[in-house]
Amino acid sequence: MLTLQAPAKINLGLEVLRRRADGYHDLNTVFAPVTLFDTITLSLRSDTQFTLQISGNDTLSASDDNLCLKAARLLCHTIGTSLPGMDIHLTKRIPTGGGLGGGSADAAALLVGANQLWGNPVPPETLHQVGLLLGSDVPFFLEGGIAHAVGRGEILTPHSITLPWAVLLVNPGIHVATPWAFRAVNRVTERPATDFVKLLMLGAEDSASLRRGMVNDFEESVMLEYPAIMQLKQRLYDAGAMFALMSGSGSTLFGLFLTEEDAKGASTLFPEYWSAVARFHEGGVVVE
Ligand code: C5P
Repeated sequence: MLTLQAPAKINLGLEVLRRRADGYHDLNTVFAPVTLFDTITLSLRSDTQFTLQISGNDTLSASDDNLCLKAARLLCHTIGTSLPGMDIHLTKRIPTGGGLGGGSADAAALLVGANQLWGNPVPPETLHQVGLLLGSDVPFFLEGGIAHAVGRGEILTPHSITLPWAVLLVNPGIHVATPWAFRAVNRVTERPATDFVKLLMLGAEDSASLRRGMVNDFEESVMLEYPAIMQLKQRLYDAGAMFALMSGSGSTLFGLFLTEEDAKGASTLFPEYWSAVARFHEGGVVVE
């Protein structure tokens, strides 16, 4: 049996640069993993079946379109030989469809764990390729650490920046469909890319530079459609956040605070919503 911890991520800036011919968009973002984890346990079976059980704070379906099952079957198919199946148990803590990459993190953990249980038949590059078939964020979770990402989000440059803040995540329970969010940005002409890594390095000294330059291109249209998300962002600032932004295509917002105590204190101001206090996580998927 193998236990894996799959971290959530936040986007420290996210720009939709241009629409591509393949239907995707080129992005400019910084992914940062945080210490909020889904837990996955894998046990080999004596037959070739894959089963999935889900527990935790979320109502996810264990149907065939679950990304964990898809990841297990796709890797098995890629390897091509007859391999034992697996019983998968997923404990959800990361809100689903909330811009925190939970489904992609679970899929990445599945790829890492299944490959290990099967005796490492494929190298990391193959996991990366299989991961990208499952979702644009999956390669990031295979690498972990803070990474600047371009392309669909799979062209990654790791950066060992010190991010001195505690993170408060607040999810207002609104499900934003990612394909809709991309369409709503309506990127007809290309936009220039901001140097988010530089802003983060400056921001460690002076958080005003984050507030001046760090953006998420999804915020405008998502907040127009769901004004509650805009109000929530203001409430994070009112609660003392140095900086607040939506993660991914929403609806989770994150606030950066000077200390964990500040973040915990602020979290009590959002009793009606799901919230969590986390720190930045240095790695990616953790194999226990
Ligand atoms: O890759 P993933 O399955 O996460 O993408 C979900 C949807 O989000 C895609 O079908 C596409 O509509 C949109 N997307 C995009 N450009 C990206 C990533 C996602 O347009 N870089």
